Amino acid sequence: MQVVLFAAQSVDGWITRQGEPGDAFASEADKTHFRAAIRACDACVMGAKTYEVSKERMSPKTFPSLRRVIWTRRPEARAAEVVPGVLEFTAESPAETVARLRSDGRKRCAVLGGGEVNAAWLAAGLVDELCLTVESRLFGSGTPLVATVGGGADPGATLDVALELIEARVLAAGGPVLLRYAVKR
Ligand SMILES: NC(=O)c1ccc[n+]([C@@H]2O[C@H](COP(=O)([O-])OP(=O)(O)OC[C@H]3O[C@@H](n4cnc5c(N)ncnc54)[C@H](OP(=O)(O)O)[C@@H]3O)[C@@H](O)[C@H]2O)c1
Repeated sequence: MQVVLFAAQSVDGWITRQGEPGDAFASEADKTHFRAAIRACDACVMGAKTYEVSKERMSPKTFPSLRRVIWTRRPEARAAEVVPGVLEFTAESPAETVARLRSDGRKRCAVLGGGEVNAAWLAAGLVDELCLTVESRLFGSGTPLVATVGGGADPGATLDVALELIEARVLAAGGPVLLRYAVKR
């Protein structure tokens, strides 16, 4: 199973505009690209915070064949929301999720953030590709693409992932730019 991390970010690396939840800053060009990219995936993982912001847009009606795995420390508190085969909540490790999705025959899994999930999956060495939309904006602060809270237990604090650029494409005049990177092993 291939694992691809998707994000829209500012030039200075933020995936939210300061404290504003969601990605309302993302351009129409990115949204068009994102919808097509997600339709090519049969599974996705996201953090509970990202799920809360995007659950309407990512509804089963919009992406019917996408199995959604939501990362939370309290999956039991979300039991009533579970839709078997479509929506689940878990506190398992990224490696356990990959093993489970593989055994379910899933071929392409999108890692949809936010920064905490991105850090955990990158630190676990399970991301094969990054697909970043760089919007022509600077925010100065926000949620980082990869969480770095600091301290030894934080996965992002010790991250050093070598990447190889495989595509750079201008999605619309003046930006955004789509950057695709393979994770070097
Ligand atoms: N621009 C973009 O492309 C883009 C993409 C994705 C997200 N975003 C934005 O980024 C923001 C959210 O990012 P974020 O980094 O704050 O949060 P996040 O990664 O979306 O979710 C964090 C949550 O993951 C769960 N979690 C963390 N560590 C865990 C562990 N070890 N085991 C199990 N569950 C764990 C916790 O959920 P519980 O609290 O339930 O335990 C935690 O609150 C949102 O505003 C979202 O809209 C933007």
